[in-house]
Amino acid sequence: MTEYVALASPKGGVGKTALAASIALLLAREGHDVLLADFNFSSPDIALHLSINNPPQTLTDVLKGHIPLNGALYSHKAGLKVLPASQHSHSHELFPLLHKHLPYLAEQADIIIADFPSRADAQVLNLLATFDKSFIVSSNDRTSQRRAAEFEQNLRKLNPGRVFHIINQVRPLPSPERTSDVHGVFHVPFDAEFHEALHKGNLHSLFNKPTPALNYITLILRKVFPERIKPGMKIGTLIS
Ligand SMILES: Nc1ncnc2c1ncn2[C@@H]1O[C@H](COP(=O)(O)OP(=O)(O)O)[C@@H](O)[C@H]1O
Ligand SMILES: [Mg+2]
Repeated sequence: MTEYVALASPKGGVGKTALAASIALLLAREGHDVLLADFNFSSPDIALHLSINNPPQTLTDVLKGHIPLNGALYSHKAGLKVLPASQHSHSHELFPLLHKHLPYLAEQADIIIADFPSRADAQVLNLLATFDKSFIVSSNDRTSQRRAAEFEQNLRKLNPGRVFHIINQVRPLPSPERTSDVHGVFHVPFDAEFHEALHKGNLHSLFNKPTPALNYITLILRKVFPERIKPGMKIGTLIS
């Protein structure tokens, strides 16, 4: 059975795309058949982060009915499939059409990692409710964390399945809003190298280094996907 995994958040700039790409790359490196899909039509960054420059055909064209799904799938050299959204037409009105396309995604890979739009409305919640696992991401400020916690509660009402909260430190500490007193959530640390690699579009080349964020994401994977991660998995053996 294909597993559907979402990265979502009520607001942008919290590292959703960074975490979606990292989780997808790490699971692919473990030998899994992974598809990383960009559902964020308003701010489509998956292709940028993985140096897929101006993909000629995208998920946007699929939802408009112009091409079949496999016409918008790209094989990334790091061993995963990528389904980018258009960087030119930011068609967020296409989002509800994703429901009917999800079953076809299952034919393409064993694990689907989807980067959701930065919204917490009913459309987003309804699609998230159909997913097997959802990571709700917030940054290290109180407002972002409070909104993410509310979002998480609303999602649990629709889908009591597996919902996780990641607090991602997109800004360095010291900050007046330390996250160490918040319990029951994952805390990805600030990581300057990770940030730089994302901006250069070469996150995949960083995977031979045990940087703080990647180390922590590996730990998340061990907890959330215990059956998919081999005991010996080390960051140092990842993409070179
Ligand atoms: N753990 C981290 N350490 C340092 N910078 C990070 C971290 N996570 C994300 N970033 C940076 O934060 C910014 C927002 O990340 P992004 O993934 O684009 O957020 P979103 O998809 O939620 O809008 C980017 O500049 C990214 O490089
Ligand atoms: Mg994003």
